[in-house]
Amino acid sequence: MIVYHLSTECYPIAKVGGLADVVGALPKYQNKIKGVEAKVVMPWYNKAFVHDHEFDIVFDGFIHQGGTMLQVVVMKEKTDVLGFELYMVKIPGLLDRDNPYGYQDESFQFLAFQHGALHWLSAMEIRPDVLHCHDYHTGLVPFMIEHCPEFRFLKGVKTIGTIHNGEYQGMMSWGMAHYMPAFDSYKWGLLDWNGFINPLASMIKCSTAFTTVSEGYLEELFISFRGLESLVREEYGKAYGIINGIDTEVWNPETDPMLDYNFSSKNAVEQKKKSKAKLCKEYRLKPELPLFAFIGRFATEKGADLLPDVVWRSIRQSQGALNIMILGSGNRYIEDKLKEYEYLYSNFALDLGYKEYLSHKIYASADFLLMPSRVEPCGLNQMYSMRYGTVPIVRYTGGLKDTVADISTGGAGLNFSYPGVDDVIHAMNRGLNIYHQKGAMEDLIASNMQFDFAWEKSAEKYIALYNK
Ligand code: ADP
Ligand code: GLC
Repeated sequence: MIVYHLSTECYPIAKVGGLADVVGALPKYQNKIKGVEAKVVMPWYNKAFVHDHEFDIVFDGFIHQGGTMLQVVVMKEKTDVLGFELYMVKIPGLLDRDNPYGYQDESFQFLAFQHGALHWLSAMEIRPDVLHCHDYHTGLVPFMIEHCPEFRFLKGVKTIGTIHNGEYQGMMSWGMAHYMPAFDSYKWGLLDWNGFINPLASMIKCSTAFTTVSEGYLEELFISFRGLESLVREEYGKAYGIINGIDTEVWNPETDPMLDYNFSSKNAVEQKKKSKAKLCKEYRLKPELPLFAFIGRFATEKGADLLPDVVWRSIRQSQGALNIMILGSGNRYIEDKLKEYEYLYSNFALDLGYKEYLSHKIYASADFLLMPSRVEPCGLNQMYSMRYGTVPIVRYTGGLKDTVADISTGGAGLNFSYPGVDDVIHAMNRGLNIYHQKGAMEDLIASNMQFDFAWEKSAEKYIALYNK
């Protein structure tokens, strides 16, 4: 079975969040299953990976976007170093950028990616068994292969659409239809949602089946899906929740080259202590105190707007008996507020930016990881932290509720239900109590490290779905 994953992110080439981790790992694990050949197609970016690796040009052609003719070059990484064939689509001016997102003309960029990739496959008569599309950036593919004459060679290919984050749907005005490959215009309804072209809605309507990255999140979409609630209810018959795994080869505390002190469950307690001491020294925190950490995008869906109040209130209420460290960036107001508190409170450290190596060190060093998410389709941070012996404190939502059970119910994490400052602080206080109980942290470290979030099980579930 030949599967092509289409995605705008893939670790380690270009990562903004968990989408990259999933697309960089799932195909690798699928390829370990007999009879499966999984490959990745992504846009070309001006990133270190592409300069450090050799590529073959496998296609050179043209597409038309509106009145503009665009050159499409497809390059394949020579050695399959990532455990799968990697194809990068380059279009000068659109698919040759430094980063996946953040450009004014993103809609053109994503349209060009979908058009360019499908043009290459059709022109070279490559007909996969499954096209697996990730998020709205590739959400028009299921429509395009059925209703754009240019891709008639691909008509009938089965498509899976995975929703990693339903908060982003890629809505465009109908004026953008002019820039799509020509399509059967009487099928316009399959693109439309409330008067806009909505790529995520179109993916749900046109894919053979669609998935969410946890079962919990699928249930939530019925009630809260930024206007697509009725659509997901209507299409429920082809919806599946499949929880993400983690790449246990990359995220292995015994071998992780980004850690200062590697460890297994046997020496985790001592080694974590050393990691924490080093990190605290670097960030002028107090190693003898418990360390609570947050890693992530400063977005309301992550509950990042609660962080400034959580910082000052928890430090004041505990009379300085804890450390907090935050790694992330995003909303300017949140960044500025946190900078102010970093200046005011010596128990608080802030690193504004995206730093892969530092995230690994924090997962290994912290005692607790905070995830006050309002929306969390799956969440990977909690699984990384557990693998690194750090106790997750999570809001009971989406993938977090599927992966982290509260210690009061036999789990190894802490849950709270309302995304508000009081609830976060209450959960942190529960954490502090545990921290000061003799032997309790040691037990939690051991039980967290035992959880098996490896990709194997979920990779099998996707294959079962493809077979179906
Ligand atoms: P999302 O994709 O919604 O941001 P996930 O929990 O699925 O959330 O994945 C986030 C990924 O991005 C994890 O691998 C996490 O470690 C990483 N990450 C987030 N922010 C940062 C940051 N500032 N520096 C390094 N890694 C980060
Ligand atoms: C999205 C979601 C996150 C999920 C990730 C990978 O970015 O916000 O919860 O873990 O995709 O599926």
